[in-house]
Amino acid sequence: MVRKTLIAGNWKMNELLSDGIALAKGVAEENKKATRKDCEILICPPFTLLMAIKKAIRGSKVMLGAQDCHFAEKGAHTGDISPEMLKDLGCQYVIVGHSERRTNHKESNALIAKKAEAAIRAGLKVIICIGETEAEKNAGKTIEVCRNQIMGSVPTASTAANTVIAYEPVWAIGTGRTPTASEVEEVHAAIRQIIASKLGRANANKMRVLYGGSMKPNNAKSLLSLADVDGGLIGGASLKVADFMAIAAASKQ
Ligand code: 13P
Repeated sequence: MVRKTLIAGNWKMNELLSDGIALAKGVAEENKKATRKDCEILICPPFTLLMAIKKAIRGSKVMLGAQDCHFAEKGAHTGDISPEMLKDLGCQYVIVGHSERRTNHKESNALIAKKAEAAIRAGLKVIICIGETEAEKNAGKTIEVCRNQIMGSVPTASTAANTVIAYEPVWAIGTGRTPTASEVEEVHAAIRQIIASKLGRANANKMRVLYGGSMKPNNAKSLLSLADVDGGLIGGASLKVADFMAIAAASKQ
């Protein structure tokens, strides 16, 4: 089963205009020079930079994504951005359900499913994030949490063509800690089973499941070479061209 590797940078709430443009241009230029086999490269800057970065990566294969969206197409939603607006701007992807939004904005599985469904409606591909907290891990609940999040936040409209799952253990985000390779492989294999029970075996076999949480150049190869890991969702290391591209270079394709 060939699933094309996706290396996605989640810039979170970082970068002002000139540094953001320089970062995006650096990624685009290095990607042109890359000698590895093809893998998809995606960058997800904050909303404020999307237009400028669309221009900065023009003519390259680097794709553009956003970090969140509303579920409505338009209307009285002050401060929100619709998936149609993101599509109109040239985004191909949107992240939904990141743990920072689940925690800081109290986003529920049901809300995330609505956002994901709306993104698919607008013609975007959606990266739906899941993952357990440290307390849940210590209680042996990792798979159960992932199951509940997949069942609740992946919409029925999801297929392997329009949806990517990102497994991001909350305790690994920004901490420099990661699960062991065998833990990651076990959870990713379980996630694929859960996707199969929700969306069918064919979708599960083709759907990409990314790992996220302290992925760095020095651990990327061991994580990305795992059978059920189809790429990475990278935070801190996506803010440095060399680190981000070193992670891409460690991908299995
Ligand atoms: P870090 O790579 O900084 O741990 O962040 C991971 C993440 O949350 C990506 O969405």
